Amino acid sequence: MQTTLIILKPDAVQRGLTGQIISRFEDKGLLIVGMKMMKISSELAAKHYESHQGKPFYSGLVTFMTSSPVVVMAVQGVGAIAICRKMMGATFGSNAEPGTIRGDYGVSNSFNLIHGSDSPEAAERELKLFFEAAQLKAGDRALDGWVYDLSSGTPE
Ligand code: RTP
Ligand code: MG
Repeated sequence: MQTTLIILKPDAVQRGLTGQIISRFEDKGLLIVGMKMMKISSELAAKHYESHQGKPFYSGLVTFMTSSPVVVMAVQGVGAIAICRKMMGATFGSNAEPGTIRGDYGVSNSFNLIHGSDSPEAAERELKLFFEAAQLKAGDRALDGWVYDLSSGTPE
């Protein structure tokens, strides 16, 4: 079971796409265990994207991420990190596959609607930047026995 950090970026919020995007994760069977709308400070954006510091797009990226409120979510499921990345699609909307979030809702390379952690290490680091553990919902769900095969004792 993994938990990943998803951010619906300023363009998703301003374009009124948050509901549709959140529904995709719920429809898939993933569990939202944390969610809030917030404005990201420059300091937080810098920490979140610290691995990109010094790259040509870095300052535009921080400006974009702090330009308007975002919706931040902690999303849980078996293999959730890779599943969410697949659902998001390639980084640039211009070449993201149809059927993915970036492929269906965007054409821009800079304004690409959504962030998702790209590894277990990144997910752990990023979740701590945005949520306190106590704020997250417990991962038990009455529905789990129909979302997963639990007959072996672990969700399959
Ligand atoms: P994210 O971190 O936001 O989930 O996106 P990603 O993993 O698909 O892409 P990443 O390489 O981590 O880049 C972070 C964000 O920086 C912007 N970007 N612009 N103009 C460019 O060449 C360029 N490259 C990256 C995008 O907003 C990307 O989501
Ligand atoms: Mg990334």
